[in-house]
Amino acid sequence: MISTINQPRLHWLLQTTAAAPELAGGIAPPELLHPIEAAQLDRFRVIKRRRDWLLGRWTAKHLIRSVLESETGIRHPLDAMVIQADPDGAPFASLTTTSGLDRLLISLSISHSEHSGFCACWPGEDAQVGADIELIEPRDWPLVETFFTANEQAQVQAASGNEKDILTTAIWSGKEAMLKATRTGLRADTRQVDCHFPNGVASPDRWQPFQARWDTAILPSAQSHFIFRTEWRVIGQHVLTLALLAAPDTIQRYSSMDIPN
Ligand SMILES: CC(C)(COP(=O)(O)OP(=O)(O)OC[C@H]1O[C@@H](n2cnc3c(N)ncnc32)[C@H](O)[C@@H]1OP(=O)(O)O)[C@@H](O)C(=O)NCCC(=O)NCCS
Repeated sequence: MISTINQPRLHWLLQTTAAAPELAGGIAPPELLHPIEAAQLDRFRVIKRRRDWLLGRWTAKHLIRSVLESETGIRHPLDAMVIQADPDGAPFASLTTTSGLDRLLISLSISHSEHSGFCACWPGEDAQVGADIELIEPRDWPLVETFFTANEQAQVQAASGNEKDILTTAIWSGKEAMLKATRTGLRADTRQVDCHFPNGVASPDRWQPFQARWDTAILPSAQSHFIFRTEWRVIGQHVLTLALLAAPDTIQRYSSMDIPN
């Protein structure tokens, strides 16, 4: 297990296909995949799905390798790690050891958009992370009306021009990050979480908090006292959001998300 009890920290990484152009065509770079993953990739026929799935593994493995290396000094080969999905769809990571595959006690979240992969991990079992990346683009009002709370709809109505696109994208992304942290994803009613950007959307180039509210019914009963910490930023044409779900004392103890890539 990676130990960061005294310095809890959320790690994140954004990568694009520019780092490994074969990813864009849905081809795995050499020494990326474990045989379990290579067999799974073979089952994907659509190039976009292959690209997205590979981008997620490419980014998650680089992130986990760097976190493990900073904690233990050991630099693991990327193909010694395996990223799989639990039955609810949430990803988890394992490491090859002499005795087989050992599941890492970390929370991992994966997101992809176009040619970018965005991943976050929390080293430990006391918090769950959700990460999301979305392209800033105009979104139709029916999407807002169907999936947003009344408060979120009012924020969008009050915004204008490009700000409306950023805000709509940020609210949608914030919801996805929160629902990934709960591990339900879009199986939940998206109106059970509410994202509020009180300072407008001045395209922050560093992580900035946004306000989140939620219906406690979305939390598993053992976690009904958990709270979210939510942050967002803009990089290029994308909005990135992070949600950390944990007990209040864990949320209070954890330090900045803003680590260099
Ligand atoms: C999780 C979910 C919100 C992701 O939405 P998205 O915008 O399409 O995709 P993103 O790129 O942001 O994220 C995809 C990643 O989310 C992760 N994910 C999938 N289900 C998840 C869950 N229940 N909890 C947390 N993370 C999940 C996966 O790692 C996935 O990437 P991968 O399959 O390449 O490993 C959505 O796929 C979902 O709700 N899935 C579960 C329910 C479902 O399958 N519904 C059918 C469609 S509504």
